Amino acid sequence: MIKRSRFGNPIETEAIINKPEAVEFSSKRLIRTDNGFIINLSEKEMVFGLGENVRGINKRGHIYKSYCDDNPNHQEDTMTLYGAHNFFVLSDSKLGVFLDTPSEITFDIGYTKASEFRIEINKQDFDLYIIEGESIDKVVQEFRGLIGRSYIPPRWSFGYGQCRWSYMSSDEVRTVAENYEKNNMPIDMIYLDIDYMERYKDFTVNKDTFGDLDQLISEMKAKNIHLVPIIDAGIKVEEGYDVYEEGREKGYFCKDADGEDFIVGVWPGRCCFPDMLNSEARAWFGNKYKVLTDMGIDGFWNDMNEPAIFYSEKKLKEAFGKIKEFEGSNLGVDKFFELRDIFNRLGNSREDYASFYHNYRGQKVCHNDVHNLFGYYMTRGASEAFERISPDKRILMFSRASYVGMHRYGGIWQGDNKSWWSHLLMNLKMMPSLNMCGFLYTGADVGGFGSNTTEDLMLRWLQLAVFTPLMRNHSAMGTRRQELYAFEGTERFKKVLDVRYKLLPYIYSEFMKSALKNTMMFRPLAFEYTDDEIACHVEDQLLLGESIMIAPIVEQNAIGRTVYIPERMQLVRFKDGEVISEKIYEKGHAYVEAALDEVILFVRENRILPLSEGGKNVTETNFNDLSLIAFGDEIKPYEYYNDDGESPVKDDYDKYISVLSK
Ligand code: GLC
Repeated sequence: MIKRSRFGNPIETEAIINKPEAVEFSSKRLIRTDNGFIINLSEKEMVFGLGENVRGINKRGHIYKSYCDDNPNHQEDTMTLYGAHNFFVLSDSKLGVFLDTPSEITFDIGYTKASEFRIEINKQDFDLYIIEGESIDKVVQEFRGLIGRSYIPPRWSFGYGQCRWSYMSSDEVRTVAENYEKNNMPIDMIYLDIDYMERYKDFTVNKDTFGDLDQLISEMKAKNIHLVPIIDAGIKVEEGYDVYEEGREKGYFCKDADGEDFIVGVWPGRCCFPDMLNSEARAWFGNKYKVLTDMGIDGFWNDMNEPAIFYSEKKLKEAFGKIKEFEGSNLGVDKFFELRDIFNRLGNSREDYASFYHNYRGQKVCHNDVHNLFGYYMTRGASEAFERISPDKRILMFSRASYVGMHRYGGIWQGDNKSWWSHLLMNLKMMPSLNMCGFLYTGADVGGFGSNTTEDLMLRWLQLAVFTPLMRNHSAMGTRRQELYAFEGTERFKKVLDVRYKLLPYIYSEFMKSALKNTMMFRPLAFEYTDDEIACHVEDQLLLGESIMIAPIVEQNAIGRTVYIPERMQLVRFKDGEVISEKIYEKGHAYVEAALDEVILFVRENRILPLSEGGKNVTETNFNDLSLIAFGDEIKPYEYYNDDGESPVKDDYDKYISVLSK
């Protein structure tokens, strides 16, 4: 059952596609306060959801804020990440809550007072949705029905992708492809980061280094490798740059308080932000992707769309003023810290977010009031353009910033992480909470983006990533090279990577079923084994689809791990190219070993895991001739979804289902 209650006069977000009639607010669990709600939590209550965030699968014990934030240095105490996903479920009462507002929200989940979940909303204009159901899964499914079907990318995007900031030339891209080929390692995508552009200008190509991009695209296509370029939110201010000039003339950029184009610093220096909330400007920006699709590009990633700001003209001026003021003075503790912070505080400042404006549905709206929608609408603009540009073929699209609603238009990656073991675990923990909010095509920068990875971290991370829909190795400028052939044990990487291509039919089928039935692909054990207290508190294992449980190793130098087995399950090991069905475990704890070049998973009793032979890339992987792994006396037939992987998906689900039995 879904109830919507309206407070004040909310800004339309278009997160919801099926809005029920509003009713007067009443709730047994939510107590209205001046600026939000309080929920009293029983000792055992768990809180799930909030999409992209740090910390646990169960979100109790910390404060989170809903405010899209570019924070590459996030740690345990971080409150905001790149997305704003205001949906959560209370385990005891099986109650789902969605707060639909682009304004900032604070979720204090038993942090200030352990027994209290306090929600503070910056503006008292919002729609509140309360969803009740017989299980957490049902509540999530109802919510997903409300927000509409998740984005479905082309099937090739379930292959492995190699990225780095940046491959600096066509030849460097060729070298990457050759190295994968030489080492017999599968690959489907190579990503182009900002340096393929001419001085970071969207929809341009650097003539000196990528002058032969057309040719590169077709060479790569011949190897079944897709090139996936980045698009940034800011447009460089430069006379003669057509995108800038057009945007300025048409009045499509965000404005300052005086109605002038608002100027910020990002990669290319001074930039304007296209007004992604203005439908005309958005469509204009979306059409620009055609420059690249015309060359044969069929996938993109949208970046810096929180939007990230290095500095504004105003703040920069103030900063230089302060520096001059401090010059030559005796800096005591206060002044020293003030000086140090001047430049640290330049970027992504709330003051800047409060000083520019959008034309949203014909109204002048301050950015700060719609901040969380910017990345959503940028990605929506692109995705809507793709429907015009490429009506017969899916295009890959994923974004860094997002709000619920954007899940219909693209996937997301989990933003800039670090080569830390804790971030490997965080990658796992975010999968179910993102699925709850509709984001299915997701994954993290495998190996870690910032700081230097290690060979074993890379291997262990890959062992998780073989299961995530988006499987992209990405690293920052200046860090150690982390292409899979860049380490001593190349053979080990190959063994792990090959497993992905064996799992592809299952991963794609489970992804598609989740998208088409509004279910979750990755579920916490707590959603299935609701009466099993131990299972409910497992934070480092997940159910993936209907047949398997994953329990990756997330600690350095570990040779195995303790796994909680919540029901009879069989250990399956991928070792040296073989698939070995090992021990059948009864419910309880077990210590399971897994070497650095192996992948382990657990198959549930009476469920089927279909596997392919593997392949060099998705196109060459056989999705029809499958081997089936299963054990038990009453094996349930497996509904296998498979389509051409390319055509836009309609609602003719049954046409693509076949039943596999053993
Ligand atoms: C941002 C992105 C990262 C990219 C970099 C350069 O930090 O999150 O993925 O590599 O910008 O474009």
